[in-house]
Amino acid sequence: MKQKELVLVTGGAGFIGSHLVDALIDKGYRVRVLDNLAPPVHNGNLPDWCNKKAECMKGDVRKKKDWQAALTGVDYVFHLAAYMDYHVNFSKYIDTNIRSTALLYEIIVEHKLPIKKIVVASSQSVYGEGKYLCAKHGVLYAQPRPESQLTKHQWEVRCPKDGTIATLLPEVETDELHPQIPYAISKVASEKLCLNLGKTYRIPTVALRYSIVQGSRQSFRHFYSGALRDFAVRALAGLPIVMQEDGRQIRDFVNVHDVVDAHLLVLRNKHADYQVFNVGMGRNTRVVELAKAVCRIAGTAFKPSRKGEYRINSPRHSKMNIDRLKKLGFAPKHTLEDSVREYIDWVRHYPEAISYWKRTYGKMRRDNILKP
Ligand SMILES: NC(=O)c1ccc[n+]([C@@H]2O[C@H](COP(=O)([O-])OP(=O)(O)OC[C@H]3O[C@@H](n4cnc5c(N)ncnc54)[C@H](O)[C@@H]3O)[C@@H](O)[C@H]2O)c1
Repeated sequence: MKQKELVLVTGGAGFIGSHLVDALIDKGYRVRVLDNLAPPVHNGNLPDWCNKKAECMKGDVRKKKDWQAALTGVDYVFHLAAYMDYHVNFSKYIDTNIRSTALLYEIIVEHKLPIKKIVVASSQSVYGEGKYLCAKHGVLYAQPRPESQLTKHQWEVRCPKDGTIATLLPEVETDELHPQIPYAISKVASEKLCLNLGKTYRIPTVALRYSIVQGSRQSFRHFYSGALRDFAVRALAGLPIVMQEDGRQIRDFVNVHDVVDAHLLVLRNKHADYQVFNVGMGRNTRVVELAKAVCRIAGTAFKPSRKGEYRINSPRHSKMNIDRLKKLGFAPKHTLEDSVREYIDWVRHYPEAISYWKRTYGKMRRDNILKP
């Protein structure tokens, strides 16, 4: 009988990686996970949601010997392990996210490994504050809004030449990249490395820029893991929802199972090779709509507090164009409500999520990441 193909998923114990592992096993692949199971995401142990049919290797993507062991006999690699969040140990983003990508290709080239395809996780954060249109001065790539503007609660992006409010444009893969935080800078470098080395050494490679991914298993130990955790924990704990800025920020929230489908699509499609794709729902949602959906599904009244709290280096709006992926056949199937319901059902089983949230929220204030 023909041996099933072996897929390596780095970060396979994490949120997106663990759902990808489940889907690959369902599709009949053998799956190996390489994950260091370390804080802040884990506590040293394999989380209970990890698929028992996957082979789990505890190892670090910053270490060559761990990569070497994990790559033995592998056909495909999904490289999702990354250091994320707003932590102030800036060098760790570089060390983890860039070094790991370089090591992956270094080993494949050195040992002439017959890897058939590599898919690397990137992020919408590479676009930074995003692209806008000024009626008078044309397209502009926005800079982070200055604090002097935010303290006056003037939230919208303005044209730097005439100060008028600019109109948001959707991000496309060919746009200029203006990453603003160390995490995003590391993702730009990782993307450029993988696509460049992939082309040079003829190793089919794809980079996927996810927007904001939602669903179960999203780490409750992360420092900041998005508005959904914040709203869901507050709703379940009977606390008022706090809207950052005025709540009218636009985001593209995408369900984790749709993101997994995008991975399966590019895995088998040769037209995806050596390209980068935006992966989102392609729909604009105001953050306040997410908050309302959370309250509706959690069964609590929506009585938000709007004091104009804001997070530094958080883009005002983010909008994704997903036409390139749609041309390959991508069609997101899940709604915002599906993601919220899945997340809330999951978090109810992990009451520790609430105590972690209290700790990290306090830390964000102390580190001046959240401003009143
Ligand atoms: N969640 C999102 O909304 C989102 C958006 C854009 C991009 N991404 C990217 O998607 C990928 C997966 O993110 P996620 O949301 O599933 O995060 P996650 O934190 O749940 O998973 C990441 C996994 O990587 C592992 N990991 C971290 N450092 C490692 C190391 N040095 N060695 C081995 N394993 C290590 C962690 O233990 C964790 O299990 C990441 O590359 C992330 O940058 C996520």
